[in-house]
Amino acid sequence: MKAIAIIGMQWGDEGKGKISHLLSERADLVVRFNGGPNAGHTVVDAYGTIRLHHIPTGSLREGVTGVLAHGMVIDPWVLREELQEISRQGRPEPRLLISERAHVILPYHKDREIGVGLAKSLGTTRRGIGPAYADKAARLGLRFIDLSDHELVQERVYKLLNATRVPGRPALDPERVAQELFEFYAVFRERLGDTQSHIRKALASGKTVVFEGAQGTLLDLDLGTYPYVTSSSTTVHGIGWGTGVPIREFSRVIGVLKAYTTRVGEGPFPSEDRGPQGALLRERGGEYGATTGRPRRCGWLDLVALRYAQQVNGFTELALTKLDVLSGLPWIPVCVAYRIGGERVEEFPASLRELSQVRPIYEQLPGWKEDIRKARSFADLPRAARDYVAYIQETLGVPVRIISLGPEPEATIFRD
Ligand code: GDP
Ligand code: IMO
Ligand code: MG
Repeated sequence: MKAIAIIGMQWGDEGKGKISHLLSERADLVVRFNGGPNAGHTVVDAYGTIRLHHIPTGSLREGVTGVLAHGMVIDPWVLREELQEISRQGRPEPRLLISERAHVILPYHKDREIGVGLAKSLGTTRRGIGPAYADKAARLGLRFIDLSDHELVQERVYKLLNATRVPGRPALDPERVAQELFEFYAVFRERLGDTQSHIRKALASGKTVVFEGAQGTLLDLDLGTYPYVTSSSTTVHGIGWGTGVPIREFSRVIGVLKAYTTRVGEGPFPSEDRGPQGALLRERGGEYGATTGRPRRCGWLDLVALRYAQQVNGFTELALTKLDVLSGLPWIPVCVAYRIGGERVEEFPASLRELSQVRPIYEQLPGWKEDIRKARSFADLPRAARDYVAYIQETLGVPVRIISLGPEPEATIFRD
């Protein structure tokens, strides 16, 4: 079995898209198992820069099939735009397989997200994610396979649109929505299938399957900073949940972490830096949302949260991204513990109240002046940068095998 998991360790945007695209070079399948178009995964390659929302980044490579498994919620309108953007950039059309069981995001889901105030209170992406998963759990949703059933679509769409008229939003025309869904079915039916069986058979025949996580561990519905989370399972455990494939053994479980921390939207962020240093990270790291364009909140590495991510996922290795962004800082703060009241705490608290009140305890690690974007081996890095990597590795007890120094695939160091 060659199952490789790529999972975000923070609050998303760790650079999973780049890592997945890199590692898919030798893959047969690359699978998205959770979330939907709330994800924005960036790839920079010979064709230019592209941000994908549903389509796994590795499927931009020829010969690699992208799988959209049943744990996803899929917006066919956005998926169509994504495919159009791929073709506009002159890229070959990706080979896709979409789960018949994946739920469809309908226009009213986006209205409801705004209407019930989720977008404002949690800072969600306005992609209809929460309401689509809520309808799925309430057994009111529509799956891709259901789109072949005109009666069912009409009944559901009429019922849902009538039940969820959102004040202040223009009324949606159920006739038109149903008609568009039938058209999508006609467009996508060729690509619909049983993704569970496809992935299972690929693994059984020794093929390499990359699982591209969306969001990050701290945004997990159960294990993250609830309610400031997304509505799906974002950790390695989401792979079983979102594909239905029993994976007895992963050959690699890769935790992707940024060399500092960012967060988009609301919610606690103990190591946030709201001062000029945080602004510097934002500018140098280009920290603006790939999906919404919102400025990302920036701060320092949080080892309490990262240790928690390690405990939850059991990573076999780490991919450290954006180390280049830290160049030029004389000292780099890293949060090693929290203080709550007078007490030093090293466990990540479940209580949101506690997490909002903790004060980070920092250690200052020496920085480096050199531009490291062109380094191609670990030995090319200045001493302080190597020490920074070693510090992370020792604290988390997992080897850092991949170090990313820029958006391009070449700007990467692989270590044995
Ligand atoms: P994802 O959601 O985890 O796939 O990450 P995003 O694509 O949302 O955000 C990562 C951003 O950082 C993208 O603009 C990438 O092109 C860029 N990026 C990825 N790795 C590196 C790196 O090592 N250094 C720099 N400077 N940028 C990077
Ligand atoms: P990728 O895959 C960063 C955040 C939103 C919001 C919260 C809930 O690119 O790393 P939602 O729309 O999912 O209900 O929003 O989660 N969020 C992300 N933040 N990266 C993402 O995906 C995210 N997907 C959702 O900003 O705070
Ligand atoms: Mg992103």
